[in-house]
Amino acid sequence: MREVWLFTLLCFGLAVAEDGLNAWLRYARLPDNIIRQVEIPSSIVSLNSTETSPVYVAAQELHKGIKGILGRNLDVTHQIHNSRSIVVGTVDAFTTTSRKTDAPALDEDGFWLNTKDSMIQILGQNERGALYGVFEYLSKLAQGNLTKVAYATNPSASIRWVNQWDNMDGTIERGYAGLSIFFKNNTIVANTTRIAEYARLLASIRVNGIVVNNVNANPILLSEENMAGLGRIADAMRPWGVQVGISLNFASPQTLGGLKTFDPLDKSVVTWWHDRTDKLYKHVPDMAGYLVKANSEGQPGPLTYNRTLADGANLFAKAVKPYGGIAMFRAFVYDSQNLREANWKDDRANAAVEFFNGLDEKFDDNVVVQVKYGPIDFQVREPVSPLFAHLQQTASAIELQITQEYLGQQCHLVYLPPMWKTILDFDMRVDGEKSVVGENILSGKRFNKTLSGYAAVVNVGQNTTWLGTHLAMSNLYAYGRIAWDPTIDEVAVLQDWARLTYGLDRKVIDTITEMSLQSWPAYENYTGNLGVQTLTDITYNHYGANPQSMDNNPWGQWTRADHNSIGMDRTVWNGTGYSGQYPSEIAATYESIETTPDDLLLWFHHVPYTHVLKSGKTVIQHFYDAHYAGAETASSFPKKWASLKGLIDEQRYEEMLFRLEYQAGHAIVWRDSIVQFYNNISGIPDTSNRVGNHPWRIEAEDMTLHNYKVTGVNPFQAASGYRVVQTSDNSTAASVQTTLGYPAGVYDLAVAYYDLYEGEAKYEVFLNDKSLGSWAGDLEHKLGYTLTRGIDAHSATRVTFKNVRIEKGDVVRIETGVFLSPPLLVSHFIFFALYLSAKTNLFLDTADHHVSESAELLSSLSFHIGVHLLTPVNQS
Ligand code: GCU
Repeated sequence: MREVWLFTLLCFGLAVAEDGLNAWLRYARLPDNIIRQVEIPSSIVSLNSTETSPVYVAAQELHKGIKGILGRNLDVTHQIHNSRSIVVGTVDAFTTTSRKTDAPALDEDGFWLNTKDSMIQILGQNERGALYGVFEYLSKLAQGNLTKVAYATNPSASIRWVNQWDNMDGTIERGYAGLSIFFKNNTIVANTTRIAEYARLLASIRVNGIVVNNVNANPILLSEENMAGLGRIADAMRPWGVQVGISLNFASPQTLGGLKTFDPLDKSVVTWWHDRTDKLYKHVPDMAGYLVKANSEGQPGPLTYNRTLADGANLFAKAVKPYGGIAMFRAFVYDSQNLREANWKDDRANAAVEFFNGLDEKFDDNVVVQVKYGPIDFQVREPVSPLFAHLQQTASAIELQITQEYLGQQCHLVYLPPMWKTILDFDMRVDGEKSVVGENILSGKRFNKTLSGYAAVVNVGQNTTWLGTHLAMSNLYAYGRIAWDPTIDEVAVLQDWARLTYGLDRKVIDTITEMSLQSWPAYENYTGNLGVQTLTDITYNHYGANPQSMDNNPWGQWTRADHNSIGMDRTVWNGTGYSGQYPSEIAATYESIETTPDDLLLWFHHVPYTHVLKSGKTVIQHFYDAHYAGAETASSFPKKWASLKGLIDEQRYEEMLFRLEYQAGHAIVWRDSIVQFYNNISGIPDTSNRVGNHPWRIEAEDMTLHNYKVTGVNPFQAASGYRVVQTSDNSTAASVQTTLGYPAGVYDLAVAYYDLYEGEAKYEVFLNDKSLGSWAGDLEHKLGYTLTRGIDAHSATRVTFKNVRIEKGDVVRIETGVFLSPPLLVSHFIFFALYLSAKTNLFLDTADHHVSESAELLSSLSFHIGVHLLTPVNQS
């Protein structure tokens, strides 16, 4: 089908500030030249059953959308009076009006959209499907796509859920976008406005279920009061066709119910769960079901009583069965305490297949095993979990993560679908037959299952942007679209989202597309290459770099890096045997170094740093080059975004620019930490001589210090020179100062400092006593990552002053003051550090900027060149 996309050069009313709350459902007015070409009926006919049904809200949405997009105020009626109307309803409701439709037989939640005739038909197999059809129609309209269409579409899978990890106290596990919209003070919030708005967003991407509380579940959700509260949540979401489910704590019969046991085969336990379930269904008659994390990371489970995981899952499946509910049982089961790195054969990646071994025929038919995409834990790159090939009788769903837990915590731009696609498009070749994860396995087709699908961990919070930052929303949008159709093109989806979110300007769409598609490869480049996993702080917050934290603990996310070699040997012949968990064709591929793709080499093999990759580079040189390339790509993002100034609204422009500049700085922290670590451990130099070589950086400890002392940093490589400076008390003004010996030129001057949680230091930078600018260490109010009180790679931050004219002999001084915002938080430390970076080529052709020859030369050798000062301030 040839699609007619209308682009425009006209202005889009950009003056109006936008805060992101409307996400991709802005219904911004199309430019007049497009509106003039739109033919649209004069009324909407809603064939709804009740005033709270999805068809009712679909018609309201249609009215609202058309008013916004076209400026037309259509009547909404409930009967078809003439053929010039947009009719919304189920196929059944439509045919009872004695009208004809060409809609084919539809699957559950599917819909038929016909815009070719004077009567536009938006007909669902059920009410939810009709609502999805309306969102599809509005999406086309909002994108200026006026192609006449007549087609039906059906979901690839029946389960398209999201999992919030919200705690009852209102915090969110791995939440980077504010507090919960569902819970507060161990109860359900009174005002459900945001909950309904969230359901609307979910419906627009065809998500049909949500588990509202953390998998590390608090039994108190099952109190009488909270069960009634869940009823309110379900009432708010039901009109949007989103069914509510909850996570359970396996030990609830004991901890909440006062029983002596939580043995899943104990009669009193079974009765307790059935009783609780019956009560829940009184409050939430259409409850989707339960989600259970058991015997994992300290959570209770059936293994405590020597019962199988199937015994545990079936307990819940039986309780919800009479109501049509399902029991999602997580495959994320492993022993986080007893893995020993000293044992070459120990491997957490083996856990899921081993724990579920022999159980495939033991699960009830309404149990769905929910499997994380890879065998470890949402890493920047993992092979697909082999468990998908083993669960042939049992229903299964994939667990993706929109929450960017190991992926920059929504402070780094990372468009995730290209990574998801490495999993979903993977052919597991079960029994030598085509077994593509998305198309064949999760669709249920490969093993003839009716139940199957998708769950994604999401950390929507109270922040008006939903996910804490605007561009992260492409991941949520794309998730729904991919769960509906895993074969869909992730670039087309991204561009739909971008047009809906930012308008039709081609430069905007192209720039967002380019940045988004570069973002995951860049992030992988600067955080963890060749399948080694995200080299973050795995024993703490999973945010900044800390490669040494991966090893020497029982968490099993090991790299086995020593002075000569790195990687997990997961072969059958010599390693943990993990590769043998795959069907034979895939197992053979991964068993051999020759056939293992470079990007998973260190996942499957332990090799010397000098091992030569298929690319021709050694492993260690690949590490160095990739980290420099990744950080360089990240540093191009602010410039790309800045080219959109004036083309998108000011508020979203500024908020995003701030994040991208932060990311560019943090990518350098990542780069330097990791290359320095592997340079140290391997002793192998970088052939390009970049690692540890910072001619344009001045270390704080080498500057003239006033009321500062030199101190350490942990991990050591989170500061070049491994040292920082820190004030010894808060009552005295402090400063650092240095005289610059660089050639005259125009420079970007970057200051690196450590922005710690609690307390806010104030900084001002002077050049020859003239202020260049000031800032506060207040990222806790601006970014959502897991904050830290340490001088480390999480708190390491850079601010940059652009286009600074510097003469040889100029004096740079940074002064620090402290203002304490929350009075209670006085006893914590604030630290900072400084960099000066020489100008990059960006300004070379600007008339009033002169860049010295040497600066030019150096900037082309190494993207990051600078003066480096590190200066902490101590608050007592
Ligand atoms: C990760 C994550 C935890 C989470 C767990 C899970 O380990 O860091 O916060 O509870 O996954 O998926 O259950």
